[in-house]
Amino acid sequence: MASVRSSATYSLRGDPGRVLRAIATNQLARFAPGLYVRLTGQTGRGSAAEEAPDDIARYFRDCVDAYFERLGVALADVPAYLDQKVIMEYGPGDLPGVAALMVAKGARKVYCVDRFALFSLSPKNARVVADLLSGCSEAERARLRACLRNPDDPAAGFKPDRIEYLVRSSGLSGLSAAVDLVISRAVLEHVNDLEATFADMVSAMRAGAVAIHQVDLRSHGLHKVHRLDFLAWSDALWRRMYSHKGVPNRWRIDTYRRIVAGLPVDVLHCSPSTLAAPQEVSVVRPLLAEPFKTVSDDDLRWLGFWLVLRKRGPGRA
Ligand SMILES: C[S@@+](CC[C@H](N)C(=O)[O-])C[C@H]1O[C@@H](n2cnc3c(N)ncnc32)[C@H](O)[C@@H]1O
Repeated sequence: MASVRSSATYSLRGDPGRVLRAIATNQLARFAPGLYVRLTGQTGRGSAAEEAPDDIARYFRDCVDAYFERLGVALADVPAYLDQKVIMEYGPGDLPGVAALMVAKGARKVYCVDRFALFSLSPKNARVVADLLSGCSEAERARLRACLRNPDDPAAGFKPDRIEYLVRSSGLSGLSAAVDLVISRAVLEHVNDLEATFADMVSAMRAGAVAIHQVDLRSHGLHKVHRLDFLAWSDALWRRMYSHKGVPNRWRIDTYRRIVAGLPVDVLHCSPSTLAAPQEVSVVRPLLAEPFKTVSDDDLRWLGFWLVLRKRGPGRA
């Protein structure tokens, strides 16, 4: 069990090298984001070298199935549900695989909104698109081919009127009453200004539109001993080390609840997908940095969750 120390001491002791490296690389990410992304080989899902194309394609299929399962839409009903819908995905990563499958299943258009220019049509990513095509039904394949610039060459990319990347340093779409469905997976925990992202999301949604998010509140490898001890770093130091890198913003479920409560949306679903054990919370409780001291034990246990919202007002769901 970790000894009980103040958060500042816990943050720094034994780790000045890590702190200095993190601060220096944060400046690199700030002034040369493209170089930082290339040097770190980011895909959004982890290191580019580790995954085979068919694993990546399977990941995208699983993501899409999970969205519809959570929305309570049977797979047979998905084409009718998506018909003519405009979707916005926050943080697609380096390949719009989920967007491609949404178009294959009937969506009219998908906006892919990202803070970082990760998108890459590398030969490997083109093979992923080819794998997605081969796993589609005939009708899906025809729809997916129709959104490729060259239906016989996935490496030529997507038609922007069907799948469009909006890469903005703010990570915000700037859209207004334009989308019927918002999706994200493993993204909200990375956004630098969570309130701004929720405000952007709600402005982009038409009345009656639905937003579904899967959020991962774990440390993403940035803990030292216990998986919640990354909440011991002071806010100021965390920002100096990580603010430009897109690593977790560390906000807990209580912050999401507070933000959502101020928006013109109804919460259709909010439940934890992973929970820490009560003992894990007891261990980190004395170490917590200021922003987390007031988070309840129950809320600290949330290590991931699903959130489904509907924008109030008349309109189709
Ligand atoms: C962990 S990756 C998840 C990628 C993809 N959704 C997946 O499941 O593989 C996080 C994604 O969020 C993006 N991101 C980070 N901050 C963002 C922001 N403020 N707005 C939009 N996207 C952001 C990253 O560039 C990256 O594409």
